[in-house]
Amino acid sequence: MPVSAAPSTGLRAAHAGLLVLLLLPSCAASTLACYYTSWSQYRQGAGSCFPDAIDPFLCTHIIYSFANISNNEIDTWEWNDVTLYDTLNTLKNRNPALKTLLSVGGWNFGSQRFSRVASNSQHRRTFVRSVPPFLRAHGFDGLDLAWLYPGHRDKRHLTTLVKEMRAEFAREARQGSEQLLLSAAVPAGKVALDRGYDVARLAQHLDFISLMTYDFHGAWRQGTGHHSPLFRGPGVASADRFSNADYAVGYMLRLGVPAKKLLMGIPAFGRSFTLASSETGVGAPSSGPGTPGRFTQEEGTLAYYEICDFLRGATVHRLPGQQVPYATKGNQWVGYDDQESVEAKVRYLRSRELAGAMVWALDLDDFRGTFCGQNLHFPLTSAIRDALAAA
Ligand SMILES: *[C@@H]1O[C@H](CO)[C@@H](O)[C@H](O)[C@H]1NC(C)=O
Repeated sequence: MPVSAAPSTGLRAAHAGLLVLLLLPSCAASTLACYYTSWSQYRQGAGSCFPDAIDPFLCTHIIYSFANISNNEIDTWEWNDVTLYDTLNTLKNRNPALKTLLSVGGWNFGSQRFSRVASNSQHRRTFVRSVPPFLRAHGFDGLDLAWLYPGHRDKRHLTTLVKEMRAEFAREARQGSEQLLLSAAVPAGKVALDRGYDVARLAQHLDFISLMTYDFHGAWRQGTGHHSPLFRGPGVASADRFSNADYAVGYMLRLGVPAKKLLMGIPAFGRSFTLASSETGVGAPSSGPGTPGRFTQEEGTLAYYEICDFLRGATVHRLPGQQVPYATKGNQWVGYDDQESVEAKVRYLRSRELAGAMVWALDLDDFRGTFCGQNLHFPLTSAIRDALAAA
């Protein structure tokens, strides 16, 4: 924003505003970390997303996923990553407060490859040393670790890796630059979390932890169910009592993760099923994942913008206990988040005094503003941002 000579009343008002901000630091759940995935560039037509589509004022942090590790050093994944890094980091010219992180790992990376780097002190040292120069060369402000998912023998190696990375970032910052940020994404499923992550110790060395509070339910199950319920809700089997955001957040806090370092994940996608009978409720028999979306082309998953398309002619139901919607049309069933459910999720995370929210992923929101109506770009992420900003 251009600074101009403001009349003195304006200045006084500005100072009063600043004073209010200074007096209310603790209730601000202000972080909104948003992932961008480089493979979204390959989606057809209107689905193709490049970083220049991102509104620089939407999120406080944008996390570019994913980077590779090659010869134990951080490396690019896509042939044109360097160009896309530059496009992303150019957003900071318009919003200098925006922070960008590079995420390393992801589902296709392979947990065993991470394990080979993290379990060997020489390899770890090479990796840790390679990160600051790489991030600086490409204009990033930090690193996000997305090791999905460590086994129980990897648990202490992950902690060591994070600790050593943090020490390296501190050392590097002594040369005069602002210290690089360090974050990690962790699954919200209790089993995977217990097996691979010593979250309380990780949190000591991280700026924030993004809890992936989604993918709780999917087509690997026999019946329909919402993949990102806020609460357990009535009628949910005891075996599924851990499969909701409320449980996962409460569990992380009980394990000793400080609320001020915890981000609750909100999905800009839905999980879909193909119904096997005329039943359409929760727990209805399914024959498998839902049909692939026109742009994302993956069975069982729909981007929010594809869901907006699906909703034309669909029947929408809300689950008052779980506080999320699902929609059915023909033999298709999709559980997803909309503006109303993300507002409930933000109210919840504020009540828990968390640091904020994480969104997976910007390229799955209606980034062009052409599918969900009102010509609004990023309607879901905007609703999250606005709810976070609301007093
Ligand atoms: C990532 O690095 C490994 C090890 O060097 C390499 O084999 C693989 O091809 C790389 N992946 C991509 C997508 O570049």
